[in-house]
Order: sequence, then structure tokens, then C-alpha cells
Amino acid sequence: MLSKTSALLKSTFSRRAQASVLKYNQLSEPQMAKTALISGITGQDGSFLTELLLEKGYDVYGIIRRSSSFNTDRIDHLYQDPHEKGTRLRLVYGDLNDSSSLNMILRQVQPDEIYNLGAQSHVRVSFDIPEYTGEVTGLGTVRFLEAIRETGIRPRFYQASSSELYGKVAETPQTETTPFHPRSPYACAKAYAYYITVNYRESYGMFASNGILFNHESERRGETFVSRKITRAATRIKLGLQKKLYMGNLDARRDWGYARDYVEAMWMMLNADEADDYVIATGETHAVREFIEKTFGYLDLDWQEYVEIDPRYFRPAEVDLLLGDASKARRQLGWEPKVSFEQLVKLMVDYDMGLANQEAEARALNHKSAATRAGWGSI
Ligand code: NAP
Ligand code: GDD
Repeated sequence: MLSKTSALLKSTFSRRAQASVLKYNQLSEPQMAKTALISGITGQDGSFLTELLLEKGYDVYGIIRRSSSFNTDRIDHLYQDPHEKGTRLRLVYGDLNDSSSLNMILRQVQPDEIYNLGAQSHVRVSFDIPEYTGEVTGLGTVRFLEAIRETGIRPRFYQASSSELYGKVAETPQTETTPFHPRSPYACAKAYAYYITVNYRESYGMFASNGILFNHESERRGETFVSRKITRAATRIKLGLQKKLYMGNLDARRDWGYARDYVEAMWMMLNADEADDYVIATGETHAVREFIEKTFGYLDLDWQEYVEIDPRYFRPAEVDLLLGDASKARRQLGWEPKVSFEQLVKLMVDYDMGLANQEAEARALNHKSAATRAGWGSI
């Protein structure tokens, strides 16, 4: 019964969050606290950043896109009724593909800080939809920067840059001065976004900073990214809900951190004395195989019995090794990661075990589960 109730609650909250999306002309209210505007608020990082900024006393506006089904799950727990006084989180419709919406939102919200986290963020998918990825992940950034210029406001601007920029790495570890060699349409789009951010800083004196963030994961990570795909599958296998886990390249190495730690770095960048570009990473690298071993080991399972390779998950060009050196962020911002690789795996497994348990319960009640979609497509 618990799962039935929680599903009902979830859908009620989603409806309420959608209902709270404001029209532009409803936006203006006298403001005292700092105001932040977030694109990508419904994503993993957007949800953690919103929590952090609300804790810090900000008024937060999030841009969401129209969707035929509810997609505010990650921020539903932060929902505030806009009809009540003192609401500090508001959602507005907009799209990085739609300059006029960005212009309008900027005029109305007049943010002190903008966090541009919105993107088609899946590397494998970017090979299937390269042009769209270029539009949103690349040109979306210049649309935002131009909107700032046109409206004449002077917000601080954070661009969600990525360690994918290093691609076929020229040196290890990677720092702010390591040359870029992007290896996917996603990384090429992010390269454009990175350079246009630097260009607007240099050309127009904007406070615009790039966070070159290495992979960061959490219990809120999208289920087709490798970490979550593994923890979701292993916990379902543990409960007999799934038999196999089909994977791509197990030799790829990543510098994996915890998303909650990383959004703090974003805020620190926009609250520094000067705009600049920073690597954010743990300084440890692990193979995908190790992530699998740790996850299955934690559940007392022998991963080799369950994991099979499916070439559909290989990428046309791979990024073999990422390892970041975040000394500059440590020195200049005082940032450092708090959650270790082991703790990260454990917290994700614990969370997904909870979900698997709910699913098992729901199955017992003969409910169809969304988790059965996990194997769709080639991602
Ligand atoms: P995510 O979970 O995939 O979230 C992406 C967000 O972008 C979602 O809110 C999505 O909205 C939104 N979005 C997609 N297309 C949009 C459009 N056309 N207009 C407006 N919003 C749009 O990504 P994440 O992991 O939180 O990452 C946040 C940002 O950091 C992304 O730019 C990503 O590329 C970058 N990054 C991530 C990592 C990482 O390891 N997580 C590392 C380096 C950089 P819907 O919910 O409607 O789809
Ligand atoms: N997704 C996925 N699925 N990846 C797999 C699989 C699989 O079945 N099998 C092996 N991998 C490998 C990929 O080939 C890649 O080398 C690695 O696991 C990590 O893949 P993802 O978790 O999809 O992340 P990513 O590194 O490609 O991209 C993420 O991190 C970037 C920062 O470096 C995304 O969050 C990007 O948006 C982000 O910029």
C-alpha cells in the first residue's frame, strides 16, 4: 500500500508543481533577497542547486519546458504554492531553443545570478541527434548571453562546461590549461558554449564563468548514465526483478564525484571576486568495471554472472580516461569534494534498493513499473 500512496502523492505534487508555473506577467513582486535564474532546474544538478540556493535565502526562478508528462519529480519536494506570500521558488516556461522566451524571462526576473545548466546532456544520444544537441547545448548558451546583452541587465553567468571537452586527452591529470579535443557532438557543442562564454566575458566585461565539471552522480542521476544504470540494475537483480545488465565499454575511466558537492562549486564561482574558469573534480579515476564491481560487491553479488557486453552501448568515438586536477578551485574558491567514490556508490545503491523494494511491492500488487523501460534504446 505504501507504494500506491507514494505514487499518488508524487503525481499530486507533480500536478501542483506544474500548476505553479507562472505566466511572465505574473512574475514581478518586490524583491529583497538575491535572485537566481536556473535553466535545467528539473535535471540532477538543477535540483541540488535549487536546494542550496533556497537554503542560502535566494529567490529562485527555474525555466522548464513544456512536456506532455510531468517531469518535475526532482524538485517536487521543494514545491511552494505561488498563491501564498513569500514563495521563493517559481517556475517559468521557456526553452534554450527559443530566444524570445529567454529575453522575456530575463526582463521580468532581473536575476542577480544565472546558472545555465540546461542541455541535451547525454553523450551517446548526441551521436543520434547531433544537430539538436548543437542547438540546445551549444547555441542555447549564446542565446542566453545575447539576451543578457539585449536586456542590459548585469547578472553573473555560470556556464555548465564539461570534462568531455578534454576528450582524447592531451595530458593527465587535466587542468584549466589542458587543450580540448572533443570526441562527440555533445562535447563539440560544449566547446562552443565554453568559448562563447569566455568571449562575452572578454568582449563585454560580463561576469561569466565556466565550471569544467567532471562526472558527478547521485541518487537523482538520470537512469541511462552509467553509474545509475549500474546501481538500478544491480539492486533490481538482487530482488529478482531483472536478470542481466547489458553494458558497453567497461575500460573507460572517469573521475566521479557527488553532485551535491559540485553545485556548491557553481555557487562559489559566481560569488568569487572575479569571473574565471575552474576544473571541478575529485582527483581520483576509476574504470566502469570498478563501479560495477563495487556496486555488485556491496550487494554480495558476483557481477560476472550478470553483466554482458552489448556493442549497441559502444560509442563511435570514446573518451577513455578522465582525471581532473581541481587545485585552482581549492586554492581560489576553497572548494573541495566531501563524498568519496566508495560513499557515492553506497549512497546510490542504498537509494536504488529502496526503489527496487517499492517496485517489488508494486509488482506484488500487479502494478506496471516504469523501471521496465530501463533497457530501451541504445543508451
Ligand atoms: P540533466 O539531468 O540531463 O538535466 C538537463 C536539464 O536540461 C533538464 O532540466 C532538462 O529539462 C534541461 N533541458 C534540456 N533541453 C532543454 C531545452 N531545450 N531548454 C531548456 N532546458 C532544457 O543534466 P545534469 O546532469 O543535471 O547536468 C547539468 C548540466 O551540467 C548540463 O548542461 C550537463 O551537460 C552539464 N554537465 C554535467 C555533468 C555531470 O556529470 N552530470 C558534468 C559536466 C557538465 P527536461 O527535464 O525537461 O529534460
Ligand atoms: N551511459 C552508458 N551506458 N555508458 C556506458 C555504458 C552503458 O551501458 N557502458 C559503458 N559506458 C561508458 C561510456 O562509454 C563512458 O565511457 C562512461 O561509461 C560514462 O558514460 P556516461 O555515464 O553516459 O557519462 P559520460 O562520461 O559520457 O558523460 C557524462 O559526464 C560528462 C562529464 O564528463 C554526462 O553527464 C555529460 O553530460 C557530462 O558532460
